[in-house]
Amino acid sequence: MSDRPPRWLPDKSWYQDARRAPSFETNAKRGMRTIGVLQEYVLPFHDRSQPLRILEVGPGLDATWIRCPYEPYAIAALLERNGVPYEMAIVDKDAEVIADIQNRRQLCFLQRRAYSNGEKEGWNRYLSLTNQNTSLVHEHFPNIIFQYWVNPSEIEDQLDRGVKVANIPLSFQNGLRDGGIVLLNGDIAIAPIADLPVAPYDFINALFVFSYLSVEGQQLALYNLAQSMRVGANLFIDNFKITFPRMTSMCINKWGSGWATEKKFNDLGLNLVKRDVVSEVYEVLLLKKG
Ligand SMILES: C[S@@+](CC[C@H](N)C(=O)[O-])C[C@H]1O[C@@H](n2cnc3c(N)ncnc32)[C@H](O)[C@@H]1O
Repeated sequence: MSDRPPRWLPDKSWYQDARRAPSFETNAKRGMRTIGVLQEYVLPFHDRSQPLRILEVGPGLDATWIRCPYEPYAIAALLERNGVPYEMAIVDKDAEVIADIQNRRQLCFLQRRAYSNGEKEGWNRYLSLTNQNTSLVHEHFPNIIFQYWVNPSEIEDQLDRGVKVANIPLSFQNGLRDGGIVLLNGDIAIAPIADLPVAPYDFINALFVFSYLSVEGQQLALYNLAQSMRVGANLFIDNFKITFPRMTSMCINKWGSGWATEKKFNDLGLNLVKRDVVSEVYEVLLLKKG
């Protein structure tokens, strides 16, 4: 691919943050699709003499009643378990998300009846990948952060029942200390991701992020991501629920009416590897061409 931006790409200097009230929502099952893609499409082809270089975009923070990201840790758990050396850059538009990851040493999970089986399975998978048993915490504890809107009596009730906690992977703790994991607070449309020491990336995960950007923002973000990928690297992205009424500017959707056609992907040097609709969310896996 030439380094010249395609003609349809908006000028960076015109870019305005869409400020479409981004949600921080995530949950314990959210890393599971990603680790499935890593297992099937990335790890079998990775030369283990080199670290796998990963970019995680928009990890999120809100897990219903508590604040906790999961995606970066699920990825780290899979790689650590498989003995794959890795480096990871994590970018989020929100400084709180980045500060949380900088300071977090435990993940937490609330055993609520309303939780789906998928979330429990995600949590259990994380425990089995990291070889940990659930430990239950009954008092206020670092990294257990309840949402501001949770009623104090509910908090006491939850603590009586116990909050599940587990350590973050050791490789992640070490990476934060030795620079193998770098954190960047920035908007993916324009953030200098290609200049981070982890770049160029072998794998990029950007789930439930594009739907918060304007069309121009999505186009710049996709260009930014494509430019930071190594040849042969994979990019995993999706759009929000196809029925969600606010989401009018989808890049990809079920009917092919989003702006990101295969031709546009091609213009950015990306090949479509696979597409899926999972629980009304449209996902694509793209490969950087040589
Ligand atoms: C709905 S959460 C998704 C969390 C997680 N990826 C998941 O799929 O569960 C959206 C995340 O993307 C971040 N985000 C939204 N717009 C962004 C942008 N333009 N650049 C970087 N991060 C962004 C938000 O701050 C939030 O952490």
